[in-house]
Amino acid sequence: MDTIIFETQQELDAYAAGLIADTVNRKPNAVLGLATGSTPIGIYDKIVELYNQQKVSFRGVTTFNLDEYVGLSPDDEQSYAYYMNRHLFSHIDIPQDQTHLPDGTADNLEAECRRYDDMLAASPVDIQLLGLGHNGHIGFNEPGTALTGGTHAVELKPETREANARFFASMDDVPDKAVTMGVGSILKADTIVLAVRGSDKANIVKEALTGPITTSVPASLLQTHARVIVLLDREAGRML
Ligand code: GLP
Repeated sequence: MDTIIFETQQELDAYAAGLIADTVNRKPNAVLGLATGSTPIGIYDKIVELYNQQKVSFRGVTTFNLDEYVGLSPDDEQSYAYYMNRHLFSHIDIPQDQTHLPDGTADNLEAECRRYDDMLAASPVDIQLLGLGHNGHIGFNEPGTALTGGTHAVELKPETREANARFFASMDDVPDKAVTMGVGSILKADTIVLAVRGSDKANIVKEALTGPITTSVPASLLQTHARVIVLLDREAGRML
């Protein structure tokens, strides 16, 4: 793993955006794995800036998001589909039909997960952006005794619902289920960029990067991948 600690959030955002733009400039039909949460927002802002400066075009790019809440449709402001349109897709030249998220409203979630895995198998991810949950989750792969390889529906842990409640009107509105790419699918990406900020994540960053490889810290599985770039701000990296 290559770990870079940045003095400021802006530097981290610019570096991560640069990695993604470089990938697309090298390979105009690149497949990007994308993440949500508060951490990537600044990265997406920077990508939009690079696009506006005509330093990159996404016309040939395909994207796959990590996860989506069960029960939220793309026009629900709390859905990850809405988030992606708001922060990235509506500002760049990517054709809508080249952007993919799991459909959290599918009647048959099992079939939806297989459909997503089939698409991923046909279009392997070149660069996967990841954030880190306070309990070590990546995507919505929660800590447990076993991790699932492919896309699957998950029950969200109370701590994850609480952490994400800030985006909802009330705790009751936070869905208790999500569909997420599995750790196996995430690890298939050629390059993984893990971006983490804030002192509240310093502990879990240390566990994930330097602790034992264990399903109780899903992000620790990243230690088994050949090309992971970890981008931290000073606070998130303070225990390393
Ligand atoms: C959610 C997402 C994760 C993300 C995590 C951390 O749970 N499913 O993909 O990494 O939030 O988000 P934040 O960056 O807001 O701390």
